[in-house]
Amino acid sequence: MDHRTAGRYWNSNADAWTRLAREGYDVFRDYLNTPAFMNMLPNVEGLAGLDIGCGEGHNTRLIARQGARITGVDIAENFIRHATATEHDEPLGIDYCVASGVELPFKNETYDFATGFMSFMDVPETGRLLSESFRILKPGGFLQFSITHPCFDPAYRMNLRDANGKKYAIAVGDYFRDLNGEISEWLFGAAPAHAREGLPYFRTPRFTHTLSYWLNLLITTGFNIERVEEPRPGDDAVRECPQLQGAQVVSYFLHLRVRKG
Ligand SMILES: C[S@@+](CC[C@H](N)C(=O)[O-])C[C@H]1O[C@@H](n2cnc3c(N)ncnc32)[C@H](O)[C@@H]1O
Repeated sequence: MDHRTAGRYWNSNADAWTRLAREGYDVFRDYLNTPAFMNMLPNVEGLAGLDIGCGEGHNTRLIARQGARITGVDIAENFIRHATATEHDEPLGIDYCVASGVELPFKNETYDFATGFMSFMDVPETGRLLSESFRILKPGGFLQFSITHPCFDPAYRMNLRDANGKKYAIAVGDYFRDLNGEISEWLFGAAPAHAREGLPYFRTPRFTHTLSYWLNLLITTGFNIERVEEPRPGDDAVRECPQLQGAQVVSYFLHLRVRKG
């Protein structure tokens, strides 16, 4: 599967995804990934940034509020439509455009930084995505992105639970198999039945790679690895949002910051 076919799946998911995320059901984003990502982000005030795979723009808006001049791109025009409508209602100076991360419509060395919140693992042409990210960065610029953890979200995964239903281990397998676009059907687990009613399941193409694949690709693209985080929810966050509990058992996500030397 190539990025255009994958993008069509994302475009079909966009309306339901935007609705549920804006109703607060993307709990891994809101309670774990985005706070950890923003905590790791260097000061971006006054810098020009590009958010690749921006979706409906939630995280792009957070970066804009930190004082960056930010552009958001997404391959799915329906996501960009929602992001643009919000920008129209509550302007933050964000530019949005429909574009694929593997064919960025920007000149070399345009941006001080680029971000990818939970989008880079959804792009099949990982090498082209990273080289495009490298190309549009100014020398010394950084790329920060988050992905599902390659070691703990491979082709096969099963939760092991105790008698109380609490997760205590994750069985993983098929680590070396690239799923190459296998379709996964799901909705945000935190969304109750009334919120899901009438909504189609998301159909997301999955692409899996080993940890060494990601790290070696970053290095051969020319990036220097600067910071690595594996966010873990605290007990308070799990009390507030019990769906996060499994993310205390193993790391569900991997956050990386790399720099164009
Ligand atoms: C899991 S969603 C994350 C959205 C958003 N960054 C967030 O954190 O809420 C993945 C996003 O990547 C986008 N995407 C997938 N393939 C892409 C590509 N080739 N170029 C740009 N965006 C892409 C999807 O349309 C979707 O918006």
